[in-house]
Amino acid sequence: MRRKVIAGNWKMNMLPNEAIEYIQEFESLVKDTKNEVILCVPYTDLFYVLNCAQGTNIKIGSQNMHWEEKGAYTGEVSGEMLKSIGVQYVIIGHSERRQYFAETDETVNRKIKSAFANELNPIVCVGETLEEREAGKTVEIITNQTRLALEGLSENQVKNTIIAYEPIWAIGTGKTATSEDANHSIREIRQEIEKNYGKDVAEEVIIQYGGSVKSTNAKELFLMSDIDGGLVGGASLKPEEFAKIVNFE
Ligand code: PGA
Repeated sequence: MRRKVIAGNWKMNMLPNEAIEYIQEFESLVKDTKNEVILCVPYTDLFYVLNCAQGTNIKIGSQNMHWEEKGAYTGEVSGEMLKSIGVQYVIIGHSERRQYFAETDETVNRKIKSAFANELNPIVCVGETLEEREAGKTVEIITNQTRLALEGLSENQVKNTIIAYEPIWAIGTGKTATSEDANHSIREIRQEIEKNYGKDVAEEVIIQYGGSVKSTNAKELFLMSDIDGGLVGGASLKPEEFAKIVNFE
């Protein structure tokens, strides 16, 4: 049985004092969960949140990283830097980064490799636009994104990659994919992994659903056969609401 992994993505929200208050409240609400809990926070919150979450079951991630270790890349943060302060996870290839910051399948792949080189676990986002969906291209898009993201990784690295299937039309819109629909897309992603890395790897990979997950729809989604938890944006900004999602059953 795969574990359930629930990750919050705060995006560009929360000042350090708000982040600290959040963790203080959230910690006791999720301390008894058997699910894995991750919070992916802005760079400026990382240090505070890591300190505050020490000794709890809350794991901390960033929302991006650069693929180079160091050098003349003004404004960027490397995997080595994240690792050095105790970060364990990193979101890579979120659709907002692909859309607004020109990330490509190639840069996503380089970042994933650099994440592993620095002992960070990547949470890799894939998903189709509404246009692509309406053109009947969902499966083609998400399986291609998955294949290209994972290219050149070892079986063990693929096993330790978390994939988040996030249909772009469902992100921040209040529209959620139906649980059957999300499960179907996720099964396609798993089959693509099976094709390239074998059944054992495919059965182990955690694949989340993301896109307008809330406490009212989390249970239905997360209990589907292939959905191993979620990547949660808006609803992760309130500790009580996010705790309900983490404690969905
Ligand atoms: P949302 O965002 O939950 O606000 O739709 C999800 C995400 O972008 O990861």
